[in-house]
Amino acid sequence: MENQTKTHLFSPLSQHGLGLKNRIVMAPMTRSRAVGSVPNALMATYYAQRASSGLIITEGTSPSPDGLGYARIPGIFNEEQVKGWEKVADAVHLKGSKIFVQLMHTGRIAHPENMPEGSRVIAPAAIKAKGDMWTDSSGMQPLPLPEPMSAADIALTIQEFAQAAKNAVKAGLDGVELHGANGYLLEQFLNPHVNTRTDEYGGNLTNRSRFVLEVVSAIADAIGKDKVGIRLSPYNTFNDMPYYDGIFDTYDHLVKEFEKLGILYVHVVESAARELEEGRRLVETIREHFSNLLILNGGYTGEKAEKALESGRADLIAFGMPFISNPDFPQRIKNSLPLASPKTASFYSADQVGYTDYPFYE
Ligand SMILES: Cc1cc2nc3c(=O)[nH]c(=O)nc-3n(C[C@H](O)[C@H](O)[C@H](O)COP(=O)(O)O)c2cc1C
Repeated sequence: MENQTKTHLFSPLSQHGLGLKNRIVMAPMTRSRAVGSVPNALMATYYAQRASSGLIITEGTSPSPDGLGYARIPGIFNEEQVKGWEKVADAVHLKGSKIFVQLMHTGRIAHPENMPEGSRVIAPAAIKAKGDMWTDSSGMQPLPLPEPMSAADIALTIQEFAQAAKNAVKAGLDGVELHGANGYLLEQFLNPHVNTRTDEYGGNLTNRSRFVLEVVSAIADAIGKDKVGIRLSPYNTFNDMPYYDGIFDTYDHLVKEFEKLGILYVHVVESAARELEEGRRLVETIREHFSNLLILNGGYTGEKAEKALESGRADLIAFGMPFISNPDFPQRIKNSLPLASPKTASFYSADQVGYTDYPFYE
């Protein structure tokens, strides 16, 4: 009896107009196969292979030429890209799964050699991130000094996000996830060590949150709040994001605002937060303050995911790495089948090897 009221990995989700066949989400993963920044047939095959998950969130996809910081990541700002995404959406829908595109603007985590002519590496402030990045033309290169965004750049970027969301709907994708995690443009605005602006987009937490909230709001206006989610990674230090005082309050503020905006989901990468008592408390607070869907991610196994769902900590669990090497990951956890390990050397290579050639379980 008790089990009937609890959520499990294979419980369908019928609320929110979504209609997911299970609670398993394929986490967004950059795979660098979009040569020329256009989604292609190989990508459609890859996503269709993984469509036994209830929801697929695509790899980070740029809403702007300025956000195409990495080699071979896709965009969703021109017609050719929209047509490419249409094929991906069709292939996934044929297999009965839903698919959201992750809108990722790389901001200062970018190299001009990866980007189209006329584009710019932009960020909240002219502060370079430590580290190097792969370019197909010159190999590893140090990250460049970004241009600080003017008020006009901010307004244009918000418009680009809104247009990208409309393009996603046009392509037949089921919604968009904003990449507010892992040190890319949106998170760059949140962190006072990276955002040293003195205008209304920098300084106190209300100002640092403003850009993220304006983007969310513009997208919700453009395509409807029920098609919008956001990914967050509180306490993340990846991509040279230094720790700062007030992380808890910043995210608490954001989530209360997301609640007011009524967006579909918040997706938390828990890996860094769960290392700290304050971080664990923040994840609980997010659950309390946000009444729509909560997706959790970061190091989950089938067993851990089942516990998180049963206890009501989350509505959906996203799995990243297991989906790379196990296209039939849901079937494998359902039937306790062994999992294949991913080959890291082909995570970001350009062809089908280590991408669409991982076998289904016999
Ligand atoms: C190859 C690779 C590419 C990734 N690319 C993205 C990305 O584009 N956007 C994003 O939000 N996270 C990205 N991530 C992070 C994953 O979504 C996920 O948060 C991480 O792998 C932890 O989940 P897991 O333990 O289930 O793998 C990437 C991870 C991997 C391994």
